[in-house]
Amino acid sequence: MPCHAGHRSNGRRGPAMTSLWLDRPDRPAYPRVAPGRSFDVAVVGAGLTGLTTALLLARAGCSVAVLEARHLGAVTTGNTTGKVTLLQGTKLARIARRHSSSTVRTYVEANMEGQQWLLRYCAEHDVPVQRRPDLVFAQSEKGRDAAGDVHDAAHEAGLPVEWLEEAGLPFPTFGVVRLADQAQLDPLDVLLALARDIERHGGEIFERSRVRDVDAGHPCRVRLADTEVLADRVVLATGTPFLDRGGFFARLEPSRSYALALDVPGPLPQVMAISADPPNRSLRTAPVTGGERLVVAGGSHRGGRAVSPRAHVAELTRWAAAQFPGAAPTHAWSAQDYRGIDQLPSVGRLLPRSDRVLVATGFDKWGLAMAVAAALALAGGILEGHMLWARSIRTWRPGAVTGLDRAVRLNADVAARLTADRLSPRVHSSAVVPPEGEGRVELDGQRLVAVSTVDGRTRRLSATCTHLGGVVTWNDAEHSWDCPLHGSRFAADGAVLEGPATCRLHDARP
Ligand SMILES: Cc1cc2nc3c(=O)[nH]c(=O)nc-3n(C[C@H](O)[C@H](O)[C@H](O)COP(=O)(O)OP(=O)(O)OC[C@H]3O[C@@H](n4cnc5c(N)ncnc54)[C@H](O)[C@@H]3O)c2cc1C
Ligand code: FES
Repeated sequence: MPCHAGHRSNGRRGPAMTSLWLDRPDRPAYPRVAPGRSFDVAVVGAGLTGLTTALLLARAGCSVAVLEARHLGAVTTGNTTGKVTLLQGTKLARIARRHSSSTVRTYVEANMEGQQWLLRYCAEHDVPVQRRPDLVFAQSEKGRDAAGDVHDAAHEAGLPVEWLEEAGLPFPTFGVVRLADQAQLDPLDVLLALARDIERHGGEIFERSRVRDVDAGHPCRVRLADTEVLADRVVLATGTPFLDRGGFFARLEPSRSYALALDVPGPLPQVMAISADPPNRSLRTAPVTGGERLVVAGGSHRGGRAVSPRAHVAELTRWAAAQFPGAAPTHAWSAQDYRGIDQLPSVGRLLPRSDRVLVATGFDKWGLAMAVAAALALAGGILEGHMLWARSIRTWRPGAVTGLDRAVRLNADVAARLTADRLSPRVHSSAVVPPEGEGRVELDGQRLVAVSTVDGRTRRLSATCTHLGGVVTWNDAEHSWDCPLHGSRFAADGAVLEGPATCRLHDARP
């Protein structure tokens, strides 16, 4: 059983802003990559996609390096809710609205392959997994149709779903879709097992090694801030691809959500569950030393566009306390994932005519089984294997670039936001610094300056996102600067946290 720490106070109001999974003492550290190294494959990103791809390639005898900007599981995998399910909330119904029933079936088939591989792997490597039914429930009479659509899409895709009137949850529901025998796990347990296995098979893992650029040649030159690595192939397993080639960021929408782990008196429902209608609510349990915690998630919004992330955490906390009297949060966290314009993931070549650089993205908060499916497809492609279902999720499939109505709307919205942010009224720079934990964008002459005070230190940075020039906004829950355009996030000191940006926010020149 994972040994999670208890409630940790960090001097802020409320629980620690750390995921339950990342709050553990047994996280190993890996070195930075040294200059002049050369590999068969460089896998960029140490989330579930990257580590599974690296393991499959290392097992097949390739020399593999995993280059991770931060640390194992730092971004989405370490902050997920950890359900390995084929039901996936309203996802199947959303795919069914845009695609043929055979596409929904191949999407499910890909997930099934990923789920089976992952659960087999966990069984063989003593990674704890709890088998649970997964429920999608309507929270109101109005939500009944949304749950019905989920039922129909899942049934049409061949999943043995049942329709129930009651979910057995401690609040009223109005129709429930149930799929038996799905699974929940601690994603860090999986990443740590994969990392050990990669090393056992001769692969190498490097942390604090952010890749800034890749020259796709023979070999590829993988450029970091202060060094360069050579590799025959490069896999970008980075959530959203940070290379602008291929324009993936313009076809992806970052979506951020909030999660809490809570101590709850009394027994907890032994199911995984998620709402079909708004406000979105997700529940599961998690084993911890001496018992079980409740994990709830919700409050989705486009990355970088919440007025107050702290208010989302507070609202989720109030909801959890109302449904589970006496619930006390031990951890609160937040994470984002990327939705493709045509609702399907994109796995394969970064550019249509070159197989040197590969990507996997667009998992839309249902990436655990799919990350493994993507890894199987990517490693299979590199090793010249072949999976029939991989066609429906490959990059540059017809639908991926002809979902243009949505892409045009998405990018018109991005352009409008950029203009509005540049022109919106600002406070002028003043000697009055923001209070502890707060930040604001100020106008200093012609320049927009991001000023924040964290841990007693006031910093002044350029408010211009180093990806493509968005204006960052203050995240009052995580004390970060978040870009509303394509999801890049930066720490209060300007370091890149996640998203397509590869360079820190610049210091504001005096
Ligand atoms: C709130 C939330 C809840 C979720 N719950 C579920 C769930 O219950 N079930 C489910 O199936 N899915 C869920 N998901 C989705 C799932 O967690 C993700 O789709 C999956 O973890 C993605 O894994 P990944 O390896 O592709 O990306 P990540 O885990 O984000 O890994 C990418 C890694 O790349 C690194 N990186 C980025 N840029 C660079 C660079 N330039 N150089 C080097 N490294 C770089 C990052 O630091 C990061 O570690 C959820 C997502 C969210 C946001
Ligand atoms: S993330 Fe693209 S401009 Fe900021």
